[in-house]
Amino acid sequence: MDQLKIGMIAVGGRGGLWRHWHQPDTGRSVVVAGADVSADALSRFRADHGGSPFVTQDYRRLLERSDVDAVAVCSPDFCHEEHAVAALQAGKHLFLEKPMAITTEGCDRVLSAWKRSGKRMMIGFNMRYMNIFRVMKEIVDSGVIGDLKAVWVRHFVGYGGDFYYHDWHATRANATSLLLQKGSHDIDMIHWITGAYTRRVAGFGGLDYFGGDRPNDLTCPACPDVRECIEAQPASTRVQCAFRQEVDVEDNQMLIMELDRGIKAAYLQCHFTPDYHRNYVFIGTEGRVENSEPEMKVWVKTRRSNTYRELADREYRIKPAAGGHGGADPVICADFVDMILDGKDPVATPIAGRMSVAAGCAGAWSIRNGGMPCEVPPIAEAL
Ligand SMILES: NC(=O)c1ccc[n+]([C@@H]2O[C@H](COP(=O)([O-])OP(=O)(O)OC[C@H]3O[C@@H](n4cnc5c(N)ncnc54)[C@H](O)[C@@H]3O)[C@@H](O)[C@H]2O)c1
Repeated sequence: MDQLKIGMIAVGGRGGLWRHWHQPDTGRSVVVAGADVSADALSRFRADHGGSPFVTQDYRRLLERSDVDAVAVCSPDFCHEEHAVAALQAGKHLFLEKPMAITTEGCDRVLSAWKRSGKRMMIGFNMRYMNIFRVMKEIVDSGVIGDLKAVWVRHFVGYGGDFYYHDWHATRANATSLLLQKGSHDIDMIHWITGAYTRRVAGFGGLDYFGGDRPNDLTCPACPDVRECIEAQPASTRVQCAFRQEVDVEDNQMLIMELDRGIKAAYLQCHFTPDYHRNYVFIGTEGRVENSEPEMKVWVKTRRSNTYRELADREYRIKPAAGGHGGADPVICADFVDMILDGKDPVATPIAGRMSVAAGCAGAWSIRNGGMPCEVPPIAEAL
């Protein structure tokens, strides 16, 4: 196979990734088909594509096609399990956006379908491809901070109201918890950089700002308070009221986690902060490493002992690469093609996808059960 033929399940929103894969003239992949429930999204896809891709509102028609070698699932979270299992059963290689599914059991059903299919699969953990976090992983792996013991991660989700409370993301039925949405990336980074998975979680959290008593069918353009409301976004595609009754996913959460090798981690996420950034700290027996996304810097501080070690502190200035998500999107898309055409091992494995959801689900359970610690169920041996 010289050129991988890809079919997209969802072409709008995150489905816009298709542009990285569609390289009909010289590239190693081409997008030949798109499925989406939205007729508007499909017509925009057709127009932008420039060729004549197969389009359908029924994803099963796309999976029946023999000219589709691989499928990218970029639909909303609550569709992932169904779309992923069907794609694998149809014999397609699979790129599956995070979170892998909205329950741990759902992830295990995807793992089981993957195992039976014999196909290649990776998860859309594009943070693994961001320079700033790759540098942090290299530093931890180098051993310069000694044996890793503690991790503190704070995610200031300044766009929380923009992206998560005006549409489907805001309910447990659709997303389980935002620990699986934003959180699945951060929990995965904790796992990836430490090389350890979460075994036990406890947490506190609440719906402290969004949600409320507004009607479920209220939209920003129709709202009498649109001029005063600081969360109003009448010109957006996401216009459901952020203070509507059905909103039930926490907007402020704090987890403590116990990982393999006795590593302890804390994960804090808040969706109503004004600023947007992720602050990661990894502490080992010899030093610590910390990042600042606004400054695009990583610092390494080693233990001071009035010796040459005082000279060992380092500041790394990170150059962002071109392309979506700090340059990560074009690289993760290329890696997917390399995985299938060249047999390259995926950086973001299905097991990592499952473990991040499982830790998020355990955290959500603990938050909703008075902070009781919750064990993360291990993956069954058969999987
Ligand atoms: N890795 C990342 O950086 C990243 C970034 C954004 C979103 N995502 C993930 O991508 C997924 C989609 O998020 P989004 O913000 O693009 O959502 P969205 O609501 O914008 O929807 C994306 C597309 O899915 C289509 N769709 C909805 N239901 C569908 C169905 N049943 N079948 C087929 N298509 C359907 C919509 O019409 C739309 O075109 C989520 O799971 C999210 O976690 C990942």
